[in-house]
Amino acid sequence: MFDLLVVNAKIHGKKELMQIGCKDGKILEVAVNIPSKSKEIIDADGYFVTPPFIDSHLHLDTPLSMGMPRLNQSGTLLEGIKIWGELKPELTRKTIKARAKKLLLWSIAKGNLVIRSHVDTTDPSLMAVDALIELRREMKEFIDIQLVAFPQDGILRSKNSMELLTCALDKGVDVVGGIPHFERTMTDGQKSIRLLCELAEKRGLMVDMHCDESDDPFSRHIEHLTFETQRLGLHGRVAGSHLTSMHTMDNYYVSKLLPLMAEAKINCICNPLVNMNLQGRHDTYPKRRGLMRVPELIGAGINVSLGHDDVMDHWYPMGSHDMLEVVHMGAHALHMTGPGQQEALFDGITTNGAKTLNLENYGLEPGCNADMVILQASSKQECIRLRPARLFVIRKGKRISRMAKTNATVTLGFEDVNVDFCP
Ligand code: FE2
Repeated sequence: MFDLLVVNAKIHGKKELMQIGCKDGKILEVAVNIPSKSKEIIDADGYFVTPPFIDSHLHLDTPLSMGMPRLNQSGTLLEGIKIWGELKPELTRKTIKARAKKLLLWSIAKGNLVIRSHVDTTDPSLMAVDALIELRREMKEFIDIQLVAFPQDGILRSKNSMELLTCALDKGVDVVGGIPHFERTMTDGQKSIRLLCELAEKRGLMVDMHCDESDDPFSRHIEHLTFETQRLGLHGRVAGSHLTSMHTMDNYYVSKLLPLMAEAKINCICNPLVNMNLQGRHDTYPKRRGLMRVPELIGAGINVSLGHDDVMDHWYPMGSHDMLEVVHMGAHALHMTGPGQQEALFDGITTNGAKTLNLENYGLEPGCNADMVILQASSKQECIRLRPARLFVIRKGKRISRMAKTNATVTLGFEDVNVDFCP
């Protein structure tokens, strides 16, 4: 007897509609026909079923704070950091938690059940750390949250930053973060990478750094992050977030860099919505795109996953935490609209994200967690094109969110015509 049986499920790579049997929070069986009984049955009606979306890069302490205390007029990363600094004295644990919780409801409704969130550790009270650890505990039945200790004001540039970051790790933050391009000099940036990677190695933790998030072609902290990963044996456990300078780097330099990154098994996290907004702001025309070289990274065998980064805050004024919007923007801005390329980007919010976060039991195979999303579409490509309704979101074998189908009726004179956006 199953707890839940999902029937008529369209699964990527399977010709026939499948059934998925779940018990005790796990997927037990995936087959064309499962004869066993189930307490609950969900009919996917031929629609697409995927493991839940993963946001590899978010800031849960900042969403929905746009305009507090003022709007970002220049649209730049640096003005965003300045406004966040102005807001910090006004923050309370209660308001941080309330905004983050509201965002998590959006996340769940959109089918995002795994989030890696950075949390600012340069505030001496570590209020945001406490708020997000508490929220993670309260929401753990519904969503998985991995926290990254993020020294927003720099590890060397900001007072007591290393001590505060270490304290955040002691409180239960999972991953070591960094922001080398915001340190005072390139040399300090390099030093911050060494110190933070050594800390991660000592504690057996993963690393995820905001790295080279600028338009400076000579910002090459990814080279040092790769070197430290290799030196300390952190292969597969280190992520470089943003890497926007890579867009502007010299081609010869990149041809040397990518094989080194592949050798060190660096994971790359691209944030198309936010970096298309923040980067290129100092350009006249042509204006550069603020994205790492994703097709070339994938071609070099490097794992690439995607993040939303910000939702309605000082760095990005839009969004509803829909990871399919991230993929949609990426497909355009990266020139990745070919069929195989769109699927690779979809993997960036599913399987590749699981690899970046070092997740276990993620997927739609027997033994995996019974977490999945049923969308009003029939394929990965159609999900990207339509960004359709998430009809059911299932967590540990239980339905935790429902959404109505989005269909239109066009009235032509006296005739009503149902509009189906699938050709
Ligand atoms: Fe970020």
